[in-house]
Amino acid sequence: MTRQDPIQVPQDDTALVSFWNEVLAPKFIRYRHVLVGGLSRHSAEVMPALGVRPGERVLDVGCGFGDTAIALARRVGPAGHVTGVDCCDAFLGLAAADAAEQGIANLEFVRGDAEKGLAPGAHDFVFSRFGTMFFANPVAGLRSMRRALKPGGRMAHIVWRCRGDNPWLDAPHRVVRQFLPAPGADARTCGPGPFSMADEARTRAQMEAAGFEDIAFRRFDAKVLVGRGIADAIAFQLALGPAGETFREAGSLAEDRRAEIEAALAVLFAASETTAEGLWMDSSSWLITARAPSA
Ligand SMILES: C[S@@+](CC[C@H](N)C(=O)[O-])C[C@H]1O[C@@H](n2cnc3c(N)ncnc32)[C@H](O)[C@@H]1O
Repeated sequence: MTRQDPIQVPQDDTALVSFWNEVLAPKFIRYRHVLVGGLSRHSAEVMPALGVRPGERVLDVGCGFGDTAIALARRVGPAGHVTGVDCCDAFLGLAAADAAEQGIANLEFVRGDAEKGLAPGAHDFVFSRFGTMFFANPVAGLRSMRRALKPGGRMAHIVWRCRGDNPWLDAPHRVVRQFLPAPGADARTCGPGPFSMADEARTRAQMEAAGFEDIAFRRFDAKVLVGRGIADAIAFQLALGPAGETFREAGSLAEDRRAEIEAALAVLFAASETTAEGLWMDSSSWLITARAPSA
């Protein structure tokens, strides 16, 4: 069942959830083509190996535009069911519209904050593609994902590896930092951010603290789309990611130096791989798999 009702906005959103809805969601929607092109390679390759079976109940946490939830719904088939959860109203509306257009009936989209708790105990599999890195309290969010599993249920989440292996985000950020200061301590941010689960030992410790077992890390490298052309890539980087955050937080100083920053970014992107679809740069993620304890 896809969600048709207007989505109710709870009054008790955390600052992080408000920030996602007010600041990031409109930018994510504007650059949906880059994000879907950038992120989908990191799940398309690994999805078949996750072992999601027909008839299973699956939760997709931080489901965004819903493309992984739709792919999972196809895998579990009509006897199974998928729930996509996200804290952003605008994403859920687009995801539900896509699912309806594709005639996917075993899927619903629900607004929720994973850190505050997900429906406990009902799922065989919990998945997240690039959603967990933004939890203000990662252990709380991961624990709520573990509690959403049946005893012995499986989870998989995909997170970015280190900055150095993700030049698609790191190189533009370095360029912008040549011109602008780092965001201050009170900056409005998306939470710990895209590289917050890059460190294997720390993330493993967070997952163990959240109650997971059989934790395994697998590296996956892929080129990701950074824009349809140089102007699109520059606009994307100045809107989102670490470069975008630095630019946004610098306010009028950023606008004063916009021309210089755009010229420097143009030089960077001119050196990237170009196809008919656009510009591509290297990226690297972890596929992290684990299991809830058996009863
Ligand atoms: C980088 S986007 C990834 C979206 C999608 N999974 C994808 O791969 O295209 C991160 C997503 O996590 C969601 N998110 C962040 N914190 C969340 C929370 N505490 N609970 C639920 N969703 C959250 C955001 O709204 C956003 O859709």
